[in-house]
Amino acid sequence: MTTQTNDPIYKTDALIAEDIDQYLQVHQHKTMLRFITCGSVDDGKSTLIGRLLYDSKMIFEDQLATLEADSKRVGTQGQEIDFALLVDGLAAEREQGITIDVAYRFFATEKRKFIVADTPGHEQYTRNMVTGASTADLAVILIDARKGVLTQTKRHSYLVKLLGIKNVVLAVNKMDLVGYSQETFDKIVADYTEFGKTIGLEDFVPMPISGYKGDNITTSSDNMPWFTGTPLLPHLETVEITSSHEPVDAPFRMPVQWVNRPNLDFRGFAGLIASGRVSPGDEIRVLPSGKTSKVAKIVTFEGDRDEAIAGEAVTLTLEDEIDCSRGQVIVAAQSPLEVADQFESTIIWMDEEEMIPGRAYWLKIGTQTVSATVQAPKYEVNVNTQEHLATKTLDLNAIGVANITTDREIPFAPYEENHDLGGFILIDKMTNQTVAAGMLHFALRRSTNVHWQATDISRESHAAMKNQKPAVLWLTGLSGSGKSTIANIVEKKLARMNRHTFLLDGDNVRHGLNKDLGFTEADRIENIRRVGEVAKLMTDAGLIVITAFISPFRSERDMVRSMMQPGEFVEVFVDTPLEVAEERDVKGLYKKARSGQLKNFTGIDSPYEAPDNAELRIDTTEMTPEEAADLIIARLIP
Ligand code: ADX
Repeated sequence: MTTQTNDPIYKTDALIAEDIDQYLQVHQHKTMLRFITCGSVDDGKSTLIGRLLYDSKMIFEDQLATLEADSKRVGTQGQEIDFALLVDGLAAEREQGITIDVAYRFFATEKRKFIVADTPGHEQYTRNMVTGASTADLAVILIDARKGVLTQTKRHSYLVKLLGIKNVVLAVNKMDLVGYSQETFDKIVADYTEFGKTIGLEDFVPMPISGYKGDNITTSSDNMPWFTGTPLLPHLETVEITSSHEPVDAPFRMPVQWVNRPNLDFRGFAGLIASGRVSPGDEIRVLPSGKTSKVAKIVTFEGDRDEAIAGEAVTLTLEDEIDCSRGQVIVAAQSPLEVADQFESTIIWMDEEEMIPGRAYWLKIGTQTVSATVQAPKYEVNVNTQEHLATKTLDLNAIGVANITTDREIPFAPYEENHDLGGFILIDKMTNQTVAAGMLHFALRRSTNVHWQATDISRESHAAMKNQKPAVLWLTGLSGSGKSTIANIVEKKLARMNRHTFLLDGDNVRHGLNKDLGFTEADRIENIRRVGEVAKLMTDAGLIVITAFISPFRSERDMVRSMMQPGEFVEVFVDTPLEVAEERDVKGLYKKARSGQLKNFTGIDSPYEAPDNAELRIDTTEMTPEEAADLIIARLIP
C-alpha cells in the first residue's frame, strides 16, 4: 500500500500509537464495525475506501490514523500492544513472521467507528484475505458492473463464507460506466444469487454504487431512482452486527491471557471475554481442569464493575484459590465447553513449503499454544468450483479438510459458534513462521471415547524391578555412518553389565512394523514417529532402548525427545562426513544413488539436518566403534 502514502488521507508517519490512542478516546462510546473489502485489482476498491474515508468527513478533525500493517513496521517499532488492542486474532500473527499485505484503516462517523481491512486482490489473495477477514464482522464484495460475477468474485465469496462472516454487502460498482442501468444491476444480482446458493451464501445486501462518482455512498443517488435500498455508508452505520466474534448472547467464556499476581493478597485472571457476560457471584468453571468457584470481583482500569460482556478485556478475581493459568478458559459453571484432543478442521495453508502430514507444529488457539500433528487431508477444495479433490498434502493457498491431534486436551468451541475459541493458526517449530490458519469443526468421537487405562504396575515399578533407569540412546547420522555397528556394541556391553536393553534398527524395523513405508519425507517422518512411540512404550516397560535410524529431520528427533521424561532421551550424533560414508559404501547404496537408480537417498538428493543440540557427538574418523560405544555408555552410566 506504499503507493498511497503521498495521499493526505493516508497518514502514515510515526504517530501511529498516539493517533490510535486519541482515536479510541474520542470514539470509545460508539459501536465498532470491522469490515473487509474484497475485489480484484481494478474493481475500484481503493477508490471506494478513499471515498468512504473522505465522505465520512471526520477524518481530519480526529487525527485519523492509518496503519500500514506490514510485518516490518510492527517488528521494528515495538507497537505490538497497540496493534493487539485493535487487530486481534489472526491478524496479530504478523509478528510471527508471516508476510502479509493488509492495510487497516480507521475512520468514524457520528454513529459508528470503523476498521476496514484493505486486502490487495492479487496473487497471495487467500493469505491476505484470511488475515483481513479473520476479524471482520462484515464483507463488502465488489463487482465491476461491466464485468459481472467473475471467478475472483466466487473465490472471495467462498472465503467470506468459510471464515464465517455473516454480513455481506454485494456492491455493484462503476454503475456510471454502464449508464446506471437497472437491467445490468438486476442481472448481476440474479447471477450472484444463483452462485450464492452453491456455497450457502444466501443472505446478502445488494447495492448499485459508483465509488468514483459517489453514487449511493452517503446518500441515495439521483442517477438511480429505481434503487430504493439504503446507500452504503448509512448501511454500514446501522447494520445490526451478527457476529461470531464475541457474541454476547452465548454462555460466558474467557480464555485466560495472564495471571496478575502483584502480591500475595491479589490474584486476578486477565483476558478478553470471548462470549457472554459475567457478574460478581456467578459460578464459574476452569477448563480443562474442571475446578469450580465464584467470581469475586471484576476489576478494570476504571474501577470494579457489576457486569462485563463479550469483547471487553477484564481481570476477574475468584472466591477460592484454584489453579488457573494462561491458556485455560474460565466458563459459566453450568454450560462448560467441550474439551478434546482430536478434531476435524478446515485448514488454509499459507506457507511456501507444503504441509507435512505427521509433523508436529505449534497450534495456537485463543491464548493457548500446544503441539499438534495434522493428518493427510481428507480432501482439498477447489476454491473456484468448490469441488473436492483428493490430495496428500496442501500447498500454498490450498484449503482442505483434515483431522488434527493435539498433545493435550484443549477446551474449544466449533469455529461456527465462536471464532475466538474455534479458530487457530499453525506455526512451524523450526522457522517460527505461521504456516496455516484453520477452523475447528468438531471433536472426533474417538478422542472422547479412548481413555488412558490406568495400570497398576507403574513405569517406576517396571524400572525398579530391572534395577535401572530407563533411557533412549538415539543414534542419528547418514546411511553408512556406523550407527548400527556402534549400537550393536553398546547393547552387548550393556548386557554384560546386566542392563535390560532393546535395539531398534532402521533396516530391521523397516522389514516389519514399518514395511509399508518408503523414503519420501512424509514416510520418513512417519517412520520416526512410530519408532518414537515404540521406544516410549519400551521405556515405560523399564528398558534402555538403543535406536539406529538416519532420522534426518530435527523436528521429528525433537518430537521424540519431547515424548520422553526429561533427561531420558540421549541424542547421539554419529558424525561421519558424506565423503567417508560414500567411500565405505558398505551396502553399495551410494553408488546406486549416484547413478540415479535409487531416488531420495539421504545426503545425495534428500537432506540430512545435523543436530545442533545433541547430548553426544561421535566423530567416527577419530575413533573406533569400540571407543564410540564406551563414550556412549560413559554418558549413560557415569
Ligand atoms: S530414516 O530416514 O527413515 O530414518 P532409516 O534409518 O529407517 O531411515 O532407514 C535407512 C536405511 O534404509 C539405510 O541405512 C539404507 O540401508 C536403507 N535405504 C534404502 N533406501 C534409502 C534411501 N533412499 N535413503 C536412505 N536410506 C535408504
